Amino acid sequence: MQKDIPELNWQNWMQRWDHQQNYYLPEREGRFAAMLDVLEALLPESFVALDLACGPGSISQRLLSRFQQASCIAVDIDPILLLLGQQTLGTMQGRLRWVDADISQPSWITQLGEEHVDAILSTTALHWLPASTLMDLYRQLGTLLRPGGIFLNGDHFGFAPHMPSFTRVCEHEQEHWSEEANKAGNENWEMWWEALRREPGMEALFAERERRFSGKTKPPEALVDVHLAALRDAGFHEVGVIWQRLDNRVVMAVR
Ligand SMILES: C[S@@+](CC[C@H](N)C(=O)[O-])C[C@H]1O[C@@H](n2cnc3c(N)ncnc32)[C@H](O)[C@@H]1O
Repeated sequence: MQKDIPELNWQNWMQRWDHQQNYYLPEREGRFAAMLDVLEALLPESFVALDLACGPGSISQRLLSRFQQASCIAVDIDPILLLLGQQTLGTMQGRLRWVDADISQPSWITQLGEEHVDAILSTTALHWLPASTLMDLYRQLGTLLRPGGIFLNGDHFGFAPHMPSFTRVCEHEQEHWSEEANKAGNENWEMWWEALRREPGMEALFAERERRFSGKTKPPEALVDVHLAALRDAGFHEVGVIWQRLDNRVVMAVR
């Protein structure tokens, strides 16, 4: 991480992050809450969680606010989002630890400094991984989670090609929501990144971000059945969708 931290209003950038993520996901907070409800039902009060591909720590922030005896490790590859999280959330009274790692590389797990965790949560992120990498990652998560531990992945999981009407309903809803967001003048992903790029002192961070993401392209979307099968293959016992609103789902797997 660079030594000279740009003097920005990081809190404001964090608020803008949440707003632009809502642009695509009107149910985002409901989905976070559903994931945390699972932890409340299944885990003791004190537990260790991993926020996988954390961005600026969206899950960690909500989880640590709700569960006062929990601690969290937040992992991401993006130097800017990690810095945004560190500047706004800090360590949340020593309960949040940040790890700068690429989860598509098998060595990421050695950077955690943790043999086992009780829960692993991820949102709107694992679709960045090709199916073969996802399968390897799920096997690693199977060893990292203690027996009885919980994995939760909240993301858009599209419908299979033979269900075009289901897909059309989802597209219709997304178009409607985007229109409403545009009318309200909300920022989307591209606008947020372009505005942040124009802030003073951000050049080196953007250059580093581009270096890290060069060669990484978004693969074709893995269907929910692929995720479920890969989790079973990785040794998870109970695997299924625990929450859903159209194609926005939370996959849950118990180790
Ligand atoms: C849309 S953001 C979601 C962030 C956060 N989970 C949230 O819901 O606000 C996707 C995140 O996945 C991260 N990511 C993508 N590929 C990654 C990789 N190979 N290793 C670590 N993080 C990755 C990105 O850097 C980004 O922070």
